[in-house]
Amino acid sequence: MQRISEEVIKEVLQKTDIVDIISEKVSLSKKGKSYFGLCPFHNEKTPSFSVEPERKIYTCFSCGEKGNAITFKQKTENITFVEAVEDLAIKANISLDLSSVRRENPNKKYFDINNDALNFYKLFLSSTKQGVIARKYLAKRGITDEVINTFNIGLSSTGFDVLYKTLTEKGILVSDLFDLGLVKQSKKESFYDLFRERIIFPIIDERSNVVGFSGRSYLEADKDSPKYINSPQTKVFTKSRVLYNLNNALNEIKKNDRVVLFEGYMDVIAAYRANVKESVASMGTSLTTEQVKLIKRYTNNVTICYDGDPAGIEATSRAIRLFENERMEVKIILLPDNLDPDDYLTKYSTAELNTYINENWIDKIEFSYLKNNMNIDFSKMLDIEHFKKTIFDLIKNTSNTIIESYIKRLSSDINISLESVRQDFYQYTKRNIQNIGGRAKRTIPIESKYLVAERRLISYFISDIKFVLKFNVEFGEIFYINSTSRDIKHLIEDQHYKNLENNVNSDINEEDLIEILSQDQLHFYNTKVKNKMIELFDKEYDDLLSTIQDYINSLLQEEIEEKIKNAPTNTEKIELAKYRDVYIKEVQHGKR
Ligand code: CTP
Ligand code: MN
Repeated sequence: MQRISEEVIKEVLQKTDIVDIISEKVSLSKKGKSYFGLCPFHNEKTPSFSVEPERKIYTCFSCGEKGNAITFKQKTENITFVEAVEDLAIKANISLDLSSVRRENPNKKYFDINNDALNFYKLFLSSTKQGVIARKYLAKRGITDEVINTFNIGLSSTGFDVLYKTLTEKGILVSDLFDLGLVKQSKKESFYDLFRERIIFPIIDERSNVVGFSGRSYLEADKDSPKYINSPQTKVFTKSRVLYNLNNALNEIKKNDRVVLFEGYMDVIAAYRANVKESVASMGTSLTTEQVKLIKRYTNNVTICYDGDPAGIEATSRAIRLFENERMEVKIILLPDNLDPDDYLTKYSTAELNTYINENWIDKIEFSYLKNNMNIDFSKMLDIEHFKKTIFDLIKNTSNTIIESYIKRLSSDINISLESVRQDFYQYTKRNIQNIGGRAKRTIPIESKYLVAERRLISYFISDIKFVLKFNVEFGEIFYINSTSRDIKHLIEDQHYKNLENNVNSDINEEDLIEILSQDQLHFYNTKVKNKMIELFDKEYDDLLSTIQDYINSLLQEEIEEKIKNAPTNTEKIELAKYRDVYIKEVQHGKR
């Protein structure tokens, strides 16, 4: 077997930014000429892993691991040397043909079998009587032969074991088919196909390996069975680690330096028909960190185009957070009238879908503005107050232009004078800065019952995710008193979703959590939370929530008092005082 030449390896390393590559997996912070982070090769809580951009190497002073960008990729992604070089070359825009040196992937046997299965499904669609019916269904949905070929769409047979028979007759072992989830066993020695009478969408990874399949029912008679059936998790298929269509989209992603992310197969296909070819889908499950990192290998720019229904909007919020964690740039498409991209195309046209995706995107502030705006009852003063603060939090760290434009918009949406909203904003942010800075201790004593309650809540959040969800319903995802408590809460949520994706028990494991806490967070956790981990009671949890509510009430009351003090005319003072009295009454009656 040939080897990759030294020159090529040199060039690849030369054109690779090692900090960039390692940052995909380790968060690094700069100290002098080097970068430091937590070593990915052993468990540690203080950073001893250093990256030197000039020498293009990494070293762990604690466990001794060292190497360059190639070895880093090899070790952290479990890939071969050639694959690592190839990936880096792609990222550095160096064209290489490594086919002569590519070593066989240990899973090649499985990929080959999946490929045989795919050929069977494709043949079944193109040349059987049943295929004619399926193609009619596809044509009705706008899927032409060209699209069928591009996406390698197939059809599984009507009989219950045709694939099983065809492939075992070719000499493929039933145990392999079983491992790949292609056949199931009913009783001893009796096997049947997983997919029967379904349109088959192969799932192909970025190296063009067929890793799994998804089958959609299409017959009127089957409309009560699940719409999609997917390959189970296998040695070569983990749903949370692949993105549908990444293989086809790769070149376009690099060419356009962006990816458009959808929820489902039909959406990706709709986008393709609308000439948006840099499109992938997370296949219905909520996006995972692994998928985000997979995208980040090729581009930093993502346009999220999920369904326009409430579930899609929630999923978008979550996705934005995951991309933000990786410091990626996010744009959002909100399709009108609860439509998904495929519906939109059907209702309008390919040209209009193209325009919508390319021109009607919004940024994350705008998205949050609209999302929060949707749930507001504008007749309720406190809803308005809550909305206002959410928006203030969103814009407070942005430019004056953005701040001013949102203040204008807020003022018109909530029908309060521009001046007054502006004043509220500056008052609010001033208070917030105080809370974060050294003066916080004066405003809220460290051991105030509010801060204690918030910290105590963390124990509940760890014990069961339902407590986090309930908290979010009551106070919103972004409410917090102490920022460390908030960050730990977010980490718990992320860990929960990650567990869900990996089909592990979704309960949070305290040890796992501790691993991902930063040094400061860990200190906070050990000294302020952990030793208080005694028994938990739902009743206490509710009391803690009321304490937090008291805190919010006291803030609001303070604010009203402040406003009364500053109101320019007596009439306004009286109006505000009336509002305050109603508000206090509501609080006393436990409505708030
Ligand atoms: N999905 C799944 N199993 C289901 C339903 C959905 O795996 N029972 C996944 C599929 O990857 C699907 C995605 O979730 O593509 C989005 O679901 P949905 O919007 O319902 O499907 P579409 O792709 O839009 O398909 P269609 O238009 O044919 O309904
Ligand atoms: Mn859909």
